[in-house]
Formats: sequence, structure tokens, C-alpha cells
Amino acid sequence: MLRCVNAVFNVVTQANVDPFFHEATNTWSYLVSDPETGAAAIVDPVMDFDASSGRIGAKSVGQIIEAVNDRQLKVQWVLETHAHADHLTAAQIIKRSLGGEIAIGRGIQQVQKHFSEVFQIAADGDLFDRLFNAGEQFSIGSIPVQVVATPGHTPDSLTYRLPGAAFIGDTLFAPDYGTARCDFPGGNAAQLYQSIQTLYGFGDETVLYLCHDYPGPGLAPRCCFTVGEQRTGNVHIGQDTTEEQFVALRTTRDAELSVPKLIIPSLQVNMRAGHLPEPEDNGLAYLRWPLDAF
Ligand SMILES: [Fe+2]
Repeated sequence: MLRCVNAVFNVVTQANVDPFFHEATNTWSYLVSDPETGAAAIVDPVMDFDASSGRIGAKSVGQIIEAVNDRQLKVQWVLETHAHADHLTAAQIIKRSLGGEIAIGRGIQQVQKHFSEVFQIAADGDLFDRLFNAGEQFSIGSIPVQVVATPGHTPDSLTYRLPGAAFIGDTLFAPDYGTARCDFPGGNAAQLYQSIQTLYGFGDETVLYLCHDYPGPGLAPRCCFTVGEQRTGNVHIGQDTTEEQFVALRTTRDAELSVPKLIIPSLQVNMRAGHLPEPEDNGLAYLRWPLDAF
């Protein structure tokens, strides 16, 4: 049960936005489609992954694929907001099933450079179909999309801004949960503060779609809030919070956070656009598990 009233927001965004919640990782993925042309984009799709067994799966993302097929949509884009550290992307599953270009911010090259060293796995920008620059424009059918750089959580973090709405990745979480951590390599709390000021500048009516939600016990996850709701209610960064206050709070909090459970499998897959390692001679593919690297 979603607390977002999408029928209302669709009037605002002129796009159909269907949210899909991946419970195991608290991640929101989105199917964004243009009612005029049937063109679609999928934002931040998730592959199922069970760390204890090493099993991967497409059951969750299968719901998005089914929705696309049922409505005969044409997938143009698979849009990553950043290289996620808490889930594995299903971008390649989407591309194999439905097509579309896999896109991410050009800052992924900084992430790839760092984690190629850590994992001793080759990764470069060519693994993605498109690397977006800040300020670039593209479209989903007839819907214009602006690429907005929103670094801070990671150096490659992007926001995809449509008329009246934006997919903001890990910047803001729900107002009562606050903001994303900034302690990954290339993360920067002052940058996140500035990125959030950019989001707040979109205007109070703009609907911001989250990448995650962590609702309290008994509460349903919620996928979106308006800028006005965030600006007046976010526990980490309200309209009067200074950069110094935010950096101090974020830095203190980050020092207490544990390493995300799936960071090791996630990064080595996600920095390679969701490509899994090639199988060995025995037919099995293997991920790497560096010791004392995180
Ligand atoms: Fe993230």
C-alpha cells in the first residue's frame, strides 16, 4: 500500500509514474512513461540477491517487466541515479528483456577508478550506453528530462528532473528519516548540502521521488514528497539549516553508521552497469570479497 497518491501527481508531472518497492533493500524503482507516445524509462531497477546463498533473481524486477509488456510500452532508457552500494542493479535484465539504453552520470568514472583498484576488476565508462553530463537534456517520448548533478552521497549522483517532478536518488530521504550518508569514497557532506539546496530551488510543488524509504514499524513505505514537505519537515535540513550545521550533523551521524550489508557485491556489479562476471570453466560466475577493504 503506497501513501503516494500517484493519480494526483500524474496531473502535475504529465508522466505516468509507477513506483515499485523492493522490500529486501528498501529501494524504490520507477517505471516512468509518456501517455502520448508509450515511451518509457525505468529508474533504479533492483536485482534480487541473497548474500548467504549467492542466489540472484529477477522476480522483483519481473513486476516492472510485466507492467511494461501489459501496457505495450517501449523502454527507451534504464536510468541509474548513481552506483548504488546497497543493492544490485537489474539494468542488464531490463535491457535483455525490453531494450533501452543504460545511462548514469559521467561521475561514474571516478567511482570506477576507485573501485577497480579495490576489486582488481576492470571497469570503464563504455560499459554504460550513455554517460550524462550535468545540465544535459534528453527525453522520454515527448517528456523532456533535465540531468541535474546532485553529488554529495557519491560523486556520480544525478537527479532526473521532469516537468513538476524529479527522481532524486540518494539525497533526501523521507522528511522524518533525513538525508543520505556522505562517507563513501568521493562523498562530501558540503556538496550534499548544496545539492539539496538545488532540489529545494525546484519550487514547493515539485514532487521528489525517493530512492529509498525506511518506514517505522507498521508504516507503509512512501515514494515521494513535495519540495515544500521536505523544506519544512526534513529533520536534517530545513529551510534555516546552515551548511556548517548540516556538515556537522551528517559527519557525526556517518561516523556511527555501519557498512551497508551488500556494498561488496553491489559495487562490483553496479560499477559495471549490472554486468555479472563471466562464468569460469565450471560454468559458475564469482564475485570478489576483498578483506579489510571496507
Ligand atoms: Fe546510494
